[in-house]
Amino acid sequence: MLEALLGRIPTPTISRLVPRRERETISGGCIKMRRLSAAEPQPDWSADFSPLHVSNCKRERNGLAAREHSTLKRNKFRAPEMKGGMDDKLKRRIGYVRQKLFGSFPGYPVIKPTDTCGVEVLAERAFQDSCREVASLTLLDTPRLANLWQLCRMTNPGGNIIEIGSFKGGGALHLSNSCPERTVIVCDSFEGFKQLDPNLDRNFDAEMFRNTSQGRVEELFRSRGRKYRIVAGFFPQSCAGVELGSISFVHLDADIYKSTIESLEYLDKRMIERSLMVLDDYFRRADGVNQAVGEFTARHKSWTAFPLFPGQGLLIHRSWFGDEK
Ligand SMILES: C[S@@+](CC[C@H](N)C(=O)[O-])C[C@H]1O[C@@H](n2cnc3c(N)ncnc32)[C@H](O)[C@@H]1O
Repeated sequence: MLEALLGRIPTPTISRLVPRRERETISGGCIKMRRLSAAEPQPDWSADFSPLHVSNCKRERNGLAAREHSTLKRNKFRAPEMKGGMDDKLKRRIGYVRQKLFGSFPGYPVIKPTDTCGVEVLAERAFQDSCREVASLTLLDTPRLANLWQLCRMTNPGGNIIEIGSFKGGGALHLSNSCPERTVIVCDSFEGFKQLDPNLDRNFDAEMFRNTSQGRVEELFRSRGRKYRIVAGFFPQSCAGVELGSISFVHLDADIYKSTIESLEYLDKRMIERSLMVLDDYFRRADGVNQAVGEFTARHKSWTAFPLFPGQGLLIHRSWFGDEK
């Protein structure tokens, strides 16, 4: 009742009526209103936002985050219980439309926005061309494409590049553009996810990423005369009987726990010296990815994980620092 009432009262009135402590604990679908001033500490989003938070700005899954932004724009945010009620798919759709209307956003209050002045990779013609080419074929944003571009080029040119979770193929094509002389192994089920963990993978649902086609992805590489191999099916089982060759760069963008942990374990043995693995969605509320990386690095002490902004992880092997593989 109180909540229903609060939902209709403008923020300044609430400030007068409800003590601050209470305002912060009111939940249940109604708007929790609190003005953010520069002097105030930012709210701890991690505490209760996970059901609403959609792990990144990827179009396929950013609807809720977009709504999160538009409410932030009005200096309010909604309680996690909002997940119940309206159909999740519909919520994402509404969020997507809102994002279209209000423009894209980082999703959180950014105190000092990214300073792109003089950033060399952004000025690189080939990088710009590649970003333009893959824009409609990838969910990855420019910073993540820049990380992939630069890190892939640092790895052993004698090894293949592999992407697990290629969806429409844009990320894999971008990697191929960064190192056109190397073979890119493009892996996707082309039918979305197989097994979602209800706790770890709750930001994803079984319907996602089905709208792709193996034929079209293959055509991207064939028409450009690139060295490529398509591995269709659920990785790593899909690799049975497939010769991957030696690998020196991995882009692991499979989103969910099972795919991530199985891929890491499978690929570990196939990496050569001067190899890197970049994971998407690391430290981005994709709990499955975080958990998989944690388990993997605990079991394989020779690998260390570093977060990369925004929302990637870099796995680096100690052989980079002189220890043998
Ligand atoms: C976020 S999308 C990949 C986005 C893509 N890298 C891009 O640049 O836009 C995640 C993809 O992982 C795929 N996937 C998840 N688990 C997989 C597995 N075990 N084997 C193969 N593909 C998998 C899904 O089918 C989906 O297409």
